[in-house]
Amino acid sequence: MKKYPKKLDEWKSFEVEQNENELLIGGWQVMQTWELPLMKFLAQQVTWNHGDILEVGFGMGISATEIIKNGCASYTVIEAHPTIVERAKKWAKNQDAKIRILEGFWQDIIPSMKNKFDGILFDTFPMHSKEKYSNHFPFIPYSPKILKKNGILTFFSDEKIPFRNNHLTLLFNHFDEVKFTNVKNLNPPKNCEYWKDSYMIIPVCKKI
Ligand SMILES: C[S@@+](CC[C@H](N)C(=O)[O-])C[C@H]1O[C@@H](n2cnc3c(N)ncnc32)[C@H](O)[C@@H]1O
Repeated sequence: MKKYPKKLDEWKSFEVEQNENELLIGGWQVMQTWELPLMKFLAQQVTWNHGDILEVGFGMGISATEIIKNGCASYTVIEAHPTIVERAKKWAKNQDAKIRILEGFWQDIIPSMKNKFDGILFDTFPMHSKEKYSNHFPFIPYSPKILKKNGILTFFSDEKIPFRNNHLTLLFNHFDEVKFTNVKNLNPPKNCEYWKDSYMIIPVCKKI
């Protein structure tokens, strides 16, 4: 029986299992490879000027690999789970790029972050039933503070048509320009517990 962590820190002791199709942490399906087209889209958006990129959540390193393929001046990732951090470090050794791995929860790192970024890709995981489909919501207000001018934020949105009103309001409370793309041809397997549709509506929020 899967349980959410009682406190954030408990996530760090959850068991990690990975095969060629998915990453499980504490039994939760955290990432599956069918997301590749989605991750390619997110990576393409954040590398718009090949600048300084921040990713939140390394997972299987799928989006990270796409970011590096596209080219960037620097790649910084915040990752909470120690096993995934070790995997990110191993992955980084084989990349020809300036990479910085910050271990911890974004909630502890972002408030005092001094660096600014051209692109931010946010893709974490709900730590509580209340955060299901909205674990990115608390990050949105922080993101304009760590973006450069014209910098963009994009993320795994959990959005379909119609786009949720509270989410739309949150985005326009913090960004003046938001572009929406329907990323199609997604093919989640029947056993996927977190997404059933063949599309997702992805916001790309620009700091102008
Ligand atoms: C969905 S996966 C990321 C998938 C990644 N985009 C990829 O392409 O493989 C989520 C990752 O976020 C990490 N994570 C979850 N909550 C976090 C938090 N609050 N701060 C930092 N990392 C977090 C998890 O440990 C996990 O490695």
